[in-house]
Amino acid sequence: MLCSGAVRCQIFPSPESACRAIALEMKALVERRAAEGRMAVLGLATGRTPLPLYRELVRLHREEGLSFSNVVAFNLDEYFGLLPSHPRSYRTFMREHLFDHIDIRPENAHIPSGNLDPGDIGPHCRAYEALIEACGGIDLQILGIGRTGHIGFNEPGAGRGSRTSLVRLDHMTRTDAAGDFGGADRVPSHAITMGCGTILEARRIILMAWGAAKAGIVSEAFDNPVADEVPASYLQEHPDASVYLDKAAAADLRGHLCVEEKQHVLKD
Ligand code: PGA
Repeated sequence: MLCSGAVRCQIFPSPESACRAIALEMKALVERRAAEGRMAVLGLATGRTPLPLYRELVRLHREEGLSFSNVVAFNLDEYFGLLPSHPRSYRTFMREHLFDHIDIRPENAHIPSGNLDPGDIGPHCRAYEALIEACGGIDLQILGIGRTGHIGFNEPGAGRGSRTSLVRLDHMTRTDAAGDFGGADRVPSHAITMGCGTILEARRIILMAWGAAKAGIVSEAFDNPVADEVPASYLQEHPDASVYLDKAAAADLRGHLCVEEKQHVLKD
């Protein structure tokens, strides 16, 4: 099930069924590392997209005993200008939806700081990168995709080699976050984000997208050649990247079958 680039696109009947498969892969990684006496290094994302994944990870922890005590997590990004305790900070998001419900050690749950003096931004970003490296690099990076084609907050033109830095958010990105902040003009104008280069160094990447609003950008990113205007398209150049979609997000992709439909075709 290949897109025209090298990225494997898997199409599921629902976000929940896709997230069950992703959570099982994460569980296998975490348990394999635990058996080796090693930490698993996860790259995590925020937004609406990963919510069913975090629900499933919390369920695996509560009902099936999956432990995150050997996990180090690095989040992709944080709004600039928000305190960690701000209700809309990504630190708060991660606590509400994942970290407060699993047994990850608080000191192992890393998120860029959005609360920095100008002179501290560069050193903070470099320290974030150095910490990822010191932990052995990211084993598995989870991504959503913005309607601009962004991964993390790397908007069109960020460049394939970009590193963790302070970036300006695209108008469309701020419009999409308007509901969370009570208006697009109240959405922070900047964020600290891992760069495309940082993200692409992860050994394995899974990008998720759900719903019709993502269908156009998914097709642009994975049916077309790699383009700087669509940062997600860089995943085509990654040796081990997969795209997990529901049917609506896959609707504009050329010539793909849903996992369930494919099983039927193979059986018939
Ligand atoms: P969303 O955002 O999950 O809220 O759609 C995705 C993204 O911007 O990466």
